[in-house]
Amino acid sequence: MSSADAIVVEGVEHSYGDVTAVGPIDLTVPQGEFLVLVGASGCGKSTLLRLIAGFEQPTTGTVRTDGTAPEPGRGAGLVFQQPRLFPWKTVGGNVALALKYAGLDASADRVDELLARVGLHDVAKRRTWQISGGQQQRVAIARALAVENPLLLLDEPFAALDALTREKLQDDLRQVSASTGRTSVFVTHSVDEAVFLGSRVVVLTPRPGRIALDLRIDLPRTGIAAAELRGLPEFAALRAEIGHAIRDRVTV
Ligand SMILES: Nc1ncnc2c1ncn2[C@@H]1O[C@H](COP(=O)(O)OP(=O)(O)OP(=O)(O)O)[C@@H](O)[C@H]1O
Ligand SMILES: [Mg+2]
Repeated sequence: MSSADAIVVEGVEHSYGDVTAVGPIDLTVPQGEFLVLVGASGCGKSTLLRLIAGFEQPTTGTVRTDGTAPEPGRGAGLVFQQPRLFPWKTVGGNVALALKYAGLDASADRVDELLARVGLHDVAKRRTWQISGGQQQRVAIARALAVENPLLLLDEPFAALDALTREKLQDDLRQVSASTGRTSVFVTHSVDEAVFLGSRVVVLTPRPGRIALDLRIDLPRTGIAAAELRGLPEFAALRAEIGHAIRDRVTV
């Protein structure tokens, strides 16, 4: 591996009992890449993300992040498919706790700024069980964006959101990732979202998830409006290619 590689997955397979969920997979993610994983439900996307986060150990093969074995909670910001918030804390309290834990400025102003970014400033004082599922997911996104970890792992973070909020957050994330140069792995079912956000898109086969397509996305990341980017003919061509790769592999 080169020192510029943020993630190296080598010969990785993962089984739950006698069910092989992923692999074998070889995947190298250079620093600063925005990798999007797509594939049918149950193909092993979340499993691969959990292996990269260090929450699961591979059955065979090795996973390295920043040159070492990943450890949960170290070096990676995470947004899970189901938001995991502290129910005894308020919305603002959840974000403040993440900042404090990382030794960052956890002032009310900073928390308000982060909540405003995900459109939640008006519910800052509510408990997390007093807001909707989509709002809970936005708290988890604000929390992950708060701490500028070198690695950001996101598992279908926008799936539960309405179309308008989803597009706004996609645009925010595209700009944040372009400006910070952080390495990200983002799981989604949406081909449009994959092309919009990714600098690279990997399509997995149905279980056990293996790499079916590994595609570089050379679209402008900055200085272009979201609607303009989506209107590019290259955008439509990439969407079609990825869509075909997914459909070719899925037998319903
Ligand atoms: N804890 C577990 N025990 C047993 N099998 C599991 C476990 N977690 C996942 N699986 C199985 O492993 C396979 C991959 O699961 P995974 O959650 O990684 O898929 P996914 O691609 O994220 O699916 P989705 O798009 O629906 O979220 C599935 O067939 C699933 O049923
Ligand atoms: Mg999943």
